[in-house]
Amino acid sequence: MNLSAATPEATEASFAGTMTAKLKEQFDAGLLSGQELRPDFTIAQPVHRYTETDHAIWRKLYDRQASMLQGRVCDEFLQGLVTLGMERDRVPEFDQLNEMLMRATGWQIVAVPGLVPDEVFFEHLANRRFPASWWMRKPEQLDYLQEPDCFHDVFGHVPLLINPVFADYMEAYGKGGLKAARLGALDMLARLYWYTVEFGLIRTPQGLRIFGAGIVSSQGESIYSLDSASPNRIGFDLKRIMRTRYRIDTFQKTYFVIDSFEQLFDATGPDFTPLYPELAALPTLGAGDIVAGDQVIHAGNREGWADSDDI
Ligand SMILES: [Fe+2]
Repeated sequence: MNLSAATPEATEASFAGTMTAKLKEQFDAGLLSGQELRPDFTIAQPVHRYTETDHAIWRKLYDRQASMLQGRVCDEFLQGLVTLGMERDRVPEFDQLNEMLMRATGWQIVAVPGLVPDEVFFEHLANRRFPASWWMRKPEQLDYLQEPDCFHDVFGHVPLLINPVFADYMEAYGKGGLKAARLGALDMLARLYWYTVEFGLIRTPQGLRIFGAGIVSSQGESIYSLDSASPNRIGFDLKRIMRTRYRIDTFQKTYFVIDSFEQLFDATGPDFTPLYPELAALPTLGAGDIVAGDQVIHAGNREGWADSDDI
């Protein structure tokens, strides 16, 4: 499992052998060549290695999402894009973004070659460092790729890190992750990340809005998550989410809706240690289930849902 990913393989990877193979793959793919991999799995962002194609892909994705997200994404995200002054024309240099980000909330972006071990990922978050893949997807991967690239990580995740409450939530999540790893509860905590940081929706006076990075960086899911009759939209419920499996290969069957970032931060503030055995004793829920006690905002019509197992 890798929580920095919005993607199948990375999410399912168990660390030990996979990590070695993954690093070899990254070396083979040239993602690390010439770069020293530091003990915390970061590298210096190799800005000299971006090609004009990389910059063109960034620009295309940025333009596409920035215009589509008007009226779809939460105001805090758009504000973050503006405040950060995130580059539209070229792949941003992390050092430049970090100047503003550090001033705003003390967060910084660190470049990684891709997959990093869970504990390393949590350690970064707990210290207000967001690990971002430095490389850009290929032209044929504009609409889908398996692992998070620079566009997903930077455009999708970084703007909200300028919001003080969300910034605190992410740090707390990292600390919680280190604890969950010791308690053998990463699967439950991963669901929280998935259904909030990656695929969360938020209720606003103007209607539902997107805040999850997995949606924000996806043209198709930016529309589907809000407009489609197929998926469920259910009010945020911490314990419920931590029992709910999810999709890694299709759009989500269920989106959970928070009322505010304060609600998210407050609900996840208490120590989860006693929760884990309580929840582990209960059956997990399918990605598309609706159960008693759910605050159902929209019951999905299940159209187009894959029959295969949820994760
Ligand atoms: Fe992500």
